[in-house]
Amino acid sequence: MRFLYILPLFCLIHSSPSKQPLCHDYESSALLQFKESFIINNSASSDPVALPRVRSWRLEGENCDCCSWDGVDCDEDTGHVIGLDLSNSCLYGPINSNSTLFRLVHLQSLNLAYNHFNYSQIPCQLGNLSRLTYLNLSSSMFSGPVPFEISKLASLSSLDLCCNYDLSSGKYFLQLKELSLASLVGNLTRLEKLDLSGVNIFSTVPKIFRNMSTLRFLYLNDCGMYGEFPVGIFKLPNIRVLDIKFNKDLSVSWPNFQSWSSPLEEMSLACTNFSSELPATMGNLGSLIVLDVSSCNLSGSIPSSIGNLTNLIYLKLSNNTLVGNIPASIGNLIHLTFLDLYGNQLIGPIPVGLANMTKLTILSIGSNQLNSSIPIGLANLAQLTILSLISNRLTGSIPIRLANLTQLAILNLKSNRLTGPIPFRLESMLANMTRLTILSVRSNRLIGPIPFMLANLSQLTILNLGSNRLTGHIPFSLANQTQLSFLNLGSNQLVGPVPSELANLTKLTILSLGLNRLTGQIPFGLENMIQLTILSLCYNELTGSIPYELANLTQLNILSLGFNQLIGPIPFGLVNLTQLTIFMLGFNQLTGPIPFGLMNLTQLNILVLESNQFQGQFPISIISLKNLHLLDISENKFRGLLPRSLANCSKLEAIDVSNNQFKDTFPSWLGNLPHLKVLMLRSNKFHG
Ligand SMILES: *[C@@H]1O[C@H](CO)[C@@H](O)[C@H](O)[C@H]1NC(C)=O
Ligand SMILES: *[C@@H]1O[C@H](CO)[C@@H](O)[C@H](O)[C@H]1NC(C)=O
Ligand SMILES: *[C@@H]1O[C@H](CO)[C@@H](O)[C@H](O)[C@H]1NC(C)=O
Ligand SMILES: *[C@@H]1O[C@H](CO)[C@@H](O)[C@H](O)[C@H]1NC(C)=O
Ligand SMILES: *[C@@H]1O[C@H](CO)[C@@H](O)[C@H](O)[C@H]1NC(C)=O
Ligand SMILES: *[C@@H]1O[C@H](CO)[C@@H](O)[C@H](O)[C@H]1NC(C)=O
Ligand SMILES: *[C@@H]1O[C@H](CO)[C@@H](O)[C@H](O)[C@H]1NC(C)=O
Ligand SMILES: *[C@@H]1O[C@H](CO)[C@@H](O)[C@H](O)[C@H]1NC(C)=O
Ligand SMILES: *[C@@H]1O[C@H](CO)[C@@H](O)[C@H](O)[C@H]1NC(C)=O
Ligand SMILES: *[C@@H]1O[C@H](CO)[C@@H](O)[C@H](O)[C@H]1NC(C)=O
Ligand SMILES: *[C@@H]1O[C@H](CO)[C@@H](O)[C@H](O)[C@H]1NC(C)=O
Ligand SMILES: *[C@@H]1O[C@H](CO)[C@@H](O)[C@H](O)[C@H]1NC(C)=O
Repeated sequence: MRFLYILPLFCLIHSSPSKQPLCHDYESSALLQFKESFIINNSASSDPVALPRVRSWRLEGENCDCCSWDGVDCDEDTGHVIGLDLSNSCLYGPINSNSTLFRLVHLQSLNLAYNHFNYSQIPCQLGNLSRLTYLNLSSSMFSGPVPFEISKLASLSSLDLCCNYDLSSGKYFLQLKELSLASLVGNLTRLEKLDLSGVNIFSTVPKIFRNMSTLRFLYLNDCGMYGEFPVGIFKLPNIRVLDIKFNKDLSVSWPNFQSWSSPLEEMSLACTNFSSELPATMGNLGSLIVLDVSSCNLSGSIPSSIGNLTNLIYLKLSNNTLVGNIPASIGNLIHLTFLDLYGNQLIGPIPVGLANMTKLTILSIGSNQLNSSIPIGLANLAQLTILSLISNRLTGSIPIRLANLTQLAILNLKSNRLTGPIPFRLESMLANMTRLTILSVRSNRLIGPIPFMLANLSQLTILNLGSNRLTGHIPFSLANQTQLSFLNLGSNQLVGPVPSELANLTKLTILSLGLNRLTGQIPFGLENMIQLTILSLCYNELTGSIPYELANLTQLNILSLGFNQLIGPIPFGLVNLTQLTIFMLGFNQLTGPIPFGLMNLTQLNILVLESNQFQGQFPISIISLKNLHLLDISENKFRGLLPRSLANCSKLEAIDVSNNQFKDTFPSWLGNLPHLKVLMLRSNKFHG
């Protein structure tokens, strides 16, 4: 490292005197050694556009003055390094207690966010950097206790230790231990911003917070706080942002906002415990931009004074037990981009005033008891990407003008009482909704045919039209939805054949066409859908035999072909469906013996062969079906002995072998099955 002390001299000779003062040698070498203590690794910063700023740091050439280095800021008069911003710089490796970073004693601002310090502890030597006013160690994989010495940094106005956790494993790394929240806050009396989100604090919120008159931004998101939240914090004179989300054991009560002009711009209180109503005086929080009180155990109605919060952009009241109407005054909130009232007990109409919110991108008011029709004005909300009105009592038809919502990615209207046709029938209609990926109108009372022009929705991955009263044929044009992974047309009144073109939907994982009046054969070509996990064709009028190509669908978990008019044997190849857990063939006219190979389907939970014409001995190899819960082979022509190996299928809860030709002694040995609740033996030739 000796050359580090020589090079600045070289630099001195070659740089022009007109530039601002050179940084001090000891500081540039401290910076370089700090740089060299890390591996530069692009995956160390989560941000895909992270820049390893230290790459440009070198002592030769034009850039030899460390004050000109990327991320380094010097005092113009003294030349001392006073600011270091290495956020998102791909630094990987620990910061040790002997790090040269701590020689930069003039630092006032230090930002090391979004790096990967390999779960090292926050070094207590940071306490030596006593001039720090800004310290940001967020999202940088520090672990262990926050050192007591942080509380010595009495000049700090901004402290950010947020998000030192691993999102994928849900592990949190930092804790407050010797350093209590009370002494941290008690000593750092100049704090304007404090972010300890994701730090394991596990304490009450100290009352001393009420003295923090300088505090503007407080984030204690997901810190395991409990006890009573000091209500005075709401009324701190400078508080702009209060984020205490995800502290489920924290009891919060509202202050009286009456005649008080609050500077609060964000209140994120989700997943804390209010057990109270929204206060009518909330209309005084006129500066609010973000209000999130979802999952807060709120009761009562939404006060109409909410309409006074005209600066709101984000409003989330979901998952509470709010009752009453959505106040019409909500129509005043014309700047909202996000509105979520999902999961309450709201009644009455969807306010027509929603049509005022032309900036909305997400509108979610599902899972309430709203009972109007869908206001046509929603078609004004041209920025909408998600529209979810699910699980209400909405009536009337789907307004055709919703077709104006060309930005929609998700349109979910399921579980309502909507009537009339799928309006997209008008060929032009859905044509412009080219971004739609999810379309669900399941469980309504829609009638008429499936529109042919769905074909234009080339991004569609989920199409759910199940449980309606749709009629007509399945249009072969559906085959153009090549991105589909979920297709449910079940429980309608569809007729005609299953179009063989559907075989083009090779990304399907779930295909449900059951409970219709489909006729014809099970189409060949289904074997192309090799990703299918669920195939349901039950309760139709399908004829012909079970195509042996089904053997190619080796991912299948559920195969349901019951209640049709299928004939012929079980194809031998189905032994390859080793993932099957539910196999239903009941109520057909299938014949032949049970292929021995069927007993290789060892994941089977449910095997229903009821009401067919299967014959022969029942294979003793049924002993392999260790996971079987339900076996129904009733109403067939099985004969001979009941396989004794059944007694080894110890999970069996129900066995129905009635109406066969078993000729055996009474199977008292079945009494050993520990979970057996139903046993039907009638109409056989059991004796003794
Ligand atoms: C700093 O300490 C680490 C171990 O704690 C050691 O490996 C390294 O050599 C030390 N660096 C210097 C410059 O002393
Ligand atoms: C912080 O405050 C506590 C009392 O609130 C005190 O005991 C402690 O010494 C202070 N720490 C520092 C570093 O000043
Ligand atoms: C809401 O605003 C109206 C009109 O500006 C005002 O009369 C009313 O008092 C306000 N209500 C609340 C609760 O702030
Ligand atoms: C809804 O809120 C309750 C607490 O009121 C919480 O336990 C639950 O996890 C929340 N559910 C969702 C889906 O957020
Ligand atoms: C729409 O917003 C305007 C204010 O911009 C308001 O006067 C009007 O009442 C709102 N309409 C509805 C239906 O809420
Ligand atoms: C639908 O869009 C057209 C053209 O973009 C516009 O003229 C019409 O007013 C819109 N309709 C509704 C109901 O917003
Ligand atoms: C689709 O968009 C085009 C051009 O923006 C417009 O002319 C046409 O009327 C739209 N169609 C529908 C059904 O909205
Ligand atoms: C299906 O897509 C092809 C090409 O993408 C197109 O030519 C054809 O018209 C589409 N069919 C239907 C029914 O939309
Ligand atoms: C199905 O795919 C084949 C080739 O992959 C193509 O020729 C045919 O047009 C497609 N059918 C439909 C209805 O998209
Ligand atoms: C179906 O499986 C057979 C035998 O494993 C194989 O030869 C055939 O290529 C498969 N067909 C498809 C479409 O994957
Ligand atoms: C079962 O799968 C194997 C391997 O993919 C294949 O070779 C065999 O032909 C299949 N058996 C039947 C009966 O389709
Ligand atoms: C069933 O599994 C056994 C053992 O794994 C194997 O020997 C046999 O060939 C399989 N039977 C069929 C029909 O695949």
